Amino acid sequence: MLDPHRMRSLEQADPEPTRLRRTRQHAGLRRLVRETRLDAAQLVQPIFVEEGLARPTPVPSMPGVRRLGLEHLAQEAQELTGLGVGAAIVFGIPAVKDTQGSASHDANGIASQAIRALKRAAPDLVVIGDVCLCEYTSHGHCGVLKGGDVDNDATLPLLARTAVAQAAAGADIVAPSAMMDGQVAAIRGALDANGHKGVATLSYSAKYASAFYGPFRDAASSAPSGGHRRGYQMDVANVREAMREIEADVREGADMVLVKPALPSLDVLRLARDRFDVPIGAYQVSGEFSMIKAAAANGWLNEANARDEALAAIRRAGADFIVTYFAKAFAQEAHA
Ligand code: PBG
Repeated sequence: MLDPHRMRSLEQADPEPTRLRRTRQHAGLRRLVRETRLDAAQLVQPIFVEEGLARPTPVPSMPGVRRLGLEHLAQEAQELTGLGVGAAIVFGIPAVKDTQGSASHDANGIASQAIRALKRAAPDLVVIGDVCLCEYTSHGHCGVLKGGDVDNDATLPLLARTAVAQAAAGADIVAPSAMMDGQVAAIRGALDANGHKGVATLSYSAKYASAFYGPFRDAASSAPSGGHRRGYQMDVANVREAMREIEADVREGADMVLVKPALPSLDVLRLARDRFDVPIGAYQVSGEFSMIKAAAANGWLNEANARDEALAAIRRAGADFIVTYFAKAFAQEAHA
């Protein structure tokens, strides 16, 4: 039996303010109550592969990032696998570009060759093919042009052929990033019709027309030579529209969706996480990477801490996995 006097005294005790600092006192306690974690298996490393490149070439606007030639992919694939990195996403840079982006859907094009090389060297590495025309078109737009505008429906079959070429080369996942309406359905249909029912789609569903893609366009030589991408990529001011994009892609059969850029879109990630049950990725884009690199190079912030904080925030907002140029470095430190 409890002593009734003692019970009363407990009830009457002045409540102490909640002491949230108790669980922050040392590393073990902080680790115990940590709400989100980050594992190298949740990170996707982008790889830029350039046709005919003899030796790895640094991308000036992205310190530590290099364009690779085909011969270097075996080593890269083995390193990523050894480090437990979740996946690699391949961006091909062809030797020749034309108005139709023909090299993107060439069965022997640079992306297909790269995917084949990665898979041959490391069959267990999850390989994703980026499906877009901008690296392959002479004008740098993500689709074919008609009267100065990107023609949505004329672009769809080209994206579908690109996806089929990448699937045939061994891609586990194809990731359409052109922001054409109906691209997921077109790609899913073409994959199924060509014997690639098992190849998954990761749609860049909520892809904003962002200033933070600048360094990537250097890396992939894909800056539009005229105009901008606001006619197909999303207006940064909108969030309900992002939900409609995701909904449409899920209906078209997307297995996973991507939100991009990452840190400027944390609200979009959170809302998407609360509304949809498909796996959701976030793309920490080139500009987000280069800002941290540049500030760190100036001694203005601590690179590893800023990186880990940004990645933690992206996970906390709801991303299951993150495409990031930091993937390999993060995994290397986790292994050290
Ligand atoms: C289009 C594509 C882009 C990025 C990924 N896929 C460029 C763009 O839309 O201009 C940007 C990624 C980055 O900035 O890191 N193929």
